[in-house]
Order: sequence, then C-alpha cells, then structure tokens
Amino acid sequence: MKILAIETSCDETAAAVVENGVKEVASALATSMEMHEKYGGIVPEVAARKQVESIVPVIAETLEKAKSAAGHDSANTQEFARDYIDAIAVTVGPGLIGSLIVGVEAAKALALAWNKPLIPVNHLVGHIYANFLEEGAGKTIEFPAIVLIVSGGHTDLVLMKGHGQLEYIGGTVDDAAGEAFDKAARILGIKTYYGGKALSEIAEKAGSKNLKIKLPRPMLHEDNFNFSFSGLKTAVKRLADEKKYPAEEIAKEFQNAVVDVLVEKTVRAADQFNVKSILLGGGVSANKALREKISEKAQEIRIPVYYPPVRLCTDNAVYIAAAAYFNRHIKPASEISVNPSLKVMDL
Ligand code: KG4
Ligand code: ZN
Repeated sequence: MKILAIETSCDETAAAVVENGVKEVASALATSMEMHEKYGGIVPEVAARKQVESIVPVIAETLEKAKSAAGHDSANTQEFARDYIDAIAVTVGPGLIGSLIVGVEAAKALALAWNKPLIPVNHLVGHIYANFLEEGAGKTIEFPAIVLIVSGGHTDLVLMKGHGQLEYIGGTVDDAAGEAFDKAARILGIKTYYGGKALSEIAEKAGSKNLKIKLPRPMLHEDNFNFSFSGLKTAVKRLADEKKYPAEEIAKEFQNAVVDVLVEKTVRAADQFNVKSILLGGGVSANKALREKISEKAQEIRIPVYYPPVRLCTDNAVYIAAAAYFNRHIKPASEISVNPSLKVMDL
C-alpha cells in the first residue's frame, strides 16, 4: 500500500510517499525557518503564507521523485499518481491553525480528485512512527513500549501497548523540552529561533571537565511522570546576566539538567510498566546527549532503546505516512477538519 502524506503543522511544508508504512519511496520539504529566525520566533501568519506558496511545488516534487523511483519517468504525473497512490494522509493537528488548513485542504482536494481514501494523522503520533520506518528500527520494536515525545511544542510520556493503543502517563506542566532549548539558546545569544541543535553544539565545547555551575533538576524526585522546564530557562537567564560563566558551560549544564530529568523519568516509567522497548520521538530526540544517556541508563535495566535517524526526528511527512499506515482511521473528506490543540491520545 502506497500512501502520499502531507505535513504542514508548523513552518515545514512536507510531502512523502511511503510503501507499507516502512519504505520511503520519495519525499520533499520546504521550510520558512529563516524568516522566523529574523523575527526571533515563529510568526503564524508568515508561516501560513509560506505554506500556501510551497504546498503545490512540494507535492509536485514528491510525485516526480516517486515516478522516477518507480521507473515511470516518462508517464504523465497525474495519471501515474492516480494509479500508483492508494491513499492520502494528512496531519490534522496539533499545530498552527493557518498552516494546518493548507495541508488539510490540499489533501482533501487530492482525495476527491483521485477518488482515494483520506487518513487524518495526529502529528505527535507521527513522531513516534519515525521509529518504525525501515531506516529506523522497523520491525524489531516490541510492545508494550514507553514513548518519550520531545518536540518544540510538546513533551509527553506515553505507554504504547500496540498500534493505536496509546495511554498518556505524563508530560510537561509548562514549557516543552524543545521550547526550553530554544529559549535558553536565545538567552545565551546562540541562535534566535530553533536553537536546540546549535545549543547542543556549543555545549560540546565545554568538554568533559567538571562544571562549576549547578542547575536544578525540576520534578526529578516527584512520584509522577510530569516535567517542568520553565524554571530552568529563568535560571539560565540569571546565570547569563551574572556574566561570570562562559556560554558553553551554561549551555552544557542546562542540557545536562534537561536530559537528566527526561531520562530518569522515562527509564523509571519503563521499569514500572514492565515494557519491552523505549522509543524517542520529536525534534529533541536528535539530541546526542539525550540519546547517549538514555541508552546508558536503559542498558542497566536491559530494555532496548530506539530513536529515529536524525533526519526523521524533526518535522517531515515520511513519518506521517508511516503513522497513517499503522493507524488507518479512514474518514470521508467532508468529516475531516483541523484541530490545532489535538492531544496525543485524541486520534
Ligand atoms: O519535532 P519538531 O521538529 O517540531 C515540533 O513538532 O515542534 O521539534 C523542533 C524542536 C525545536 O525546539 C528544536 O530546537 C529542537 O526540536 N531540536 C533539538 C535538536 N534538534 C532539534 N533540541 C536539542 N538538540 C537537538 N539536537
Ligand atoms: Zn513535530
């Protein structure tokens, strides 16, 4: 089964064709990130306008690539697509309403024109499925699993008993992990927007020497699976204002603090729920320190850890197609609408 997926939840316009939920055939992506960097944060109106500009070229590029991958270079693209694609999938939330609408309406139009089933996908569930692609762990993942979704807008701990069987067990009570990374990066003058990766690169420069600064590990010892990151951002601001410590040391201790609580609570949940796998998903799962620490801690309790290839951690349509394949909530186009505040359990 070949699914054409469309993802437009934030500032990326993405499309992909994936076969049987695991094999990427083609994908394309455009981003308006540089424009948001100029403003020091995402401007929803700008993001939505960029989605409108990019959606048709991105879908067209994906179909051209799929045509080529299938060895039908000389075929008419529309005829090829109608024949080749079995279903259309689209992210319906959570995300920015103006951005989501662009993808959902494009997907509806294609489903109608090509007479194909339409599968709505929850973006957060999509992040989980980056692990199930051939390029990720694929078939070796065993259930039940504990999943840590760490993105720019969300931090959720989920018990996954099987495909379509998700139970929310905890999450952030304030800022998301990615949001905390982004705010710390801005405070430290590293990058104005989406600075998580840049902050982790600066942190590496601090080396392995003992740091003089110590930040709190919020909610680490509380008997629940919740997180809180807004206090860390305030603590970073205070340290930066003191001008006593180099940015790389503050960055490193900040990263250590975030990683420590994410890892400790995820591994604790894995132990408590007696799971067979631990999965990471979302932009922050690209973080090297997080990947290393969770692998180390999970090894102590002998539970395998899976994280997506870096390329599939941040937003794209490849994992949306994978999620659609494993969770086929097919609906008539007329019943599909966007839901900007969709929760991980909702679809
Ligand atoms: O999942 P994603 O692409 O978008 C959302 O759905 O929100 O996640 C983006 C987030 C941003 O906050 C970005 O700074 C963060 O993921 N991020 C990282 C790294 N790469 C991306 N944070 C820490 N370390 C990284 N290597
Ligand atoms: Zn995302």
